[in-house]
Amino acid sequence: MKKMEQLYEGKAKKVFATDDPAIVIVDYKDDATAFNGVKKGTIVGKGAINNRMTNHVFRLFEEQGIPTHLVEELSDRETAVKKVEIVPLEVIVRNVAAGSFSKRMGVEEGRALLCPIIEFSYKNDDLGDPFINDDYALALGLATAEEIDTIKNYTRKINEIMKEYFRNAGMKLIDFKIEFGRLPDGTIILADEVSPDTCRLWDVNTNEKLDKDRFRRDLGNVEEAYNEVFRRLGLD
Ligand code: TMP
Repeated sequence: MKKMEQLYEGKAKKVFATDDPAIVIVDYKDDATAFNGVKKGTIVGKGAINNRMTNHVFRLFEEQGIPTHLVEELSDRETAVKKVEIVPLEVIVRNVAAGSFSKRMGVEEGRALLCPIIEFSYKNDDLGDPFINDDYALALGLATAEEIDTIKNYTRKINEIMKEYFRNAGMKLIDFKIEFGRLPDGTIILADEVSPDTCRLWDVNTNEKLDKDRFRRDLGNVEEAYNEVFRRLGLD
């Protein structure tokens, strides 16, 4: 497979064309942003960690019947993936109150929720990814009712797989964000990434934060936290 021209550069990844029109190469960067790009920095080694962690987790999902865009890990930072049209929804799952949920609802961080919440944001940087619901998505044609159904079913299953996976490595899965894509035939598959950038992970005993909140909130030891997650998952 030949890496060709750059198609897109996002905040954390670049996407390149290949000589196969159905496949693109994702190239993970060490760049970190927060608050819709207002805060910028570098997390040394993050690109390689996020690439390898995403691919590992996506293989687990595939084994459990959830289709993903993964084709082949090419290097530390590069992975060949199926080319999709991204569904413009940030699909967020919350098991424990934290972040924007705690702020919006006036609930202290760390309070367990009685059941998992699936929530949507409209993926639109100019608008700051506003919180929406299923009816917004339907009414604006962001996804069909059938697609939303599929996305929610996959998402519930992904949450169960990930909760157990991280618990076995000594971490609580507080919340996370995933994105889905459409293949040319309309099939919905999991795309984007699963990493400490996109999950909140707390130490099961101490509740120490082992994710991007260390960068967002200037808590220090950012690289150490990413390396610790990687080590605990046995990926180093
Ligand atoms: P929130 O509490 O700030 O809404 O974040 C919920 C989860 O989504 C958290 O695990 C971090 C993740 N997330 C992203 O992956 N990208 C984003 O742009 C934001 C705001 C959150």
